[in-house]
Amino acid sequence: TERTLILIKPDGVERNLTGEILSRIERKGYTIVELAMTTPDREVLAAHYEEHQGKPFYEPLLEFMSSGPVVAAIVKGDRVIEGIRSLAGTTDPTVAAPGTIRGDLGRDWPGTVQKNLIHASDSTLSADREIEIWFG
Ligand code: GTP
Ligand code: MG
Repeated sequence: TERTLILIKPDGVERNLTGEILSRIERKGYTIVELAMTTPDREVLAAHYEEHQGKPFYEPLLEFMSSGPVVAAIVKGDRVIEGIRSLAGTTDPTVAAPGTIRGDLGRDWPGTVQKNLIHASDSTLSADREIEIWFG
């Protein structure tokens, strides 16, 4: 069994979609084992988004992610990393498949960053790394 890190981004919390998103994860049969709400500081976000440093969307992304509370969770289950990426849908919410969190609930909104509701670790390596960053 695996563990993964998910974040409900500030747009998801602001739109009152926390319950809806966690509910989809639970209905799929995955188990939430840690849960926290926090407005992340720059240091946490810089560590979390290390791989995107220098990209044109990096600064707006950090700005957006620190703009309000996020919900961080550790989720457990067989092949949960792959499973939650699949539940989330592709990065761009406008074209993410219907049936996914991003596809059903997201679209482009005015602003500089893609507000796509959820982050989910993309490998066992990033899951371990991100769980350490958010939960120590
Ligand atoms: P995460 O689960 O959040 O990591 O999304 P992802 O793995 O689908 O995307 P990726 O790691 O490539 O990018 C991280 C986040 O940066 C995305 O979720 C978006 O919020 C934002 N982002 C990625 N690519 C772009 C882009 O081309 N333009 C803008 N404005 N934002 C982007
Ligand atoms: Mg990513």
